[in-house]
Amino acid sequence: MNRQFYPLQRDQALAIISWRYPPPYDVYNLAPDDLADLLNPQNAFFALIQTDNTLAGFCSFGPDGQVSGGNYDATALDIGMGLHPDLIGRGQGRHYAIAVARYGSSQFGEQRLRVTIATFNIRAQRL
Ligand SMILES: CC(C)(COP(=O)(O)OP(=O)(O)OC[C@H]1O[C@@H](n2cnc3c(N)ncnc32)[C@H](O)[C@@H]1OP(=O)(O)O)[C@@H](O)C(=O)NCCC(=O)NCCS
Repeated sequence: MNRQFYPLQRDQALAIISWRYPPPYDVYNLAPDDLADLLNPQNAFFALIQTDNTLAGFCSFGPDGQVSGGNYDATALDIGMGLHPDLIGRGQGRHYAIAVARYGSSQFGEQRLRVTIATFNIRAQRL
């Protein structure tokens, strides 16, 4: 499956804010208040666009992937990602995650990548 990464645009961010994940993953649902963070260049959000031009998901590189109280140093690039709710749980996650990791490394030149995942989110941990 081919996909491209583009800096996240406002209409894409608004679409992502409307996405709804079923429980227990609803903690990843976003709200209008999140728009500024999604569009903040420092958070480096990118849209994953499929060949049919649909928005498959998003990813971020840097501070968005860090949680308060965590011990983060500058030796790794933090990654965050989310797929469209219609695409999750289909065993395709690893293909997206590999593409995200490769893109992050190529864009930011980091050799080490890091993710912070909630304890309950076994799916993302397996990924
Ligand atoms: C995290 C995310 C990218 C994973 O993609 P996905 O397409 O849903 O994942 P997959 O269906 O490929 O499953 C990934 C792995 O988890 C396993 N899995 C799926 N659902 C599971 C569940 N409920 N419990 C335990 N394992 C589960 C799969 O079997 C697979 O493992 P395997 O490759 O060893 O078989 C996607 O679910 C998502 O965007 N979720 C919402 C946001 C999120 O959680 N972001 C991550 C925050 S760090």
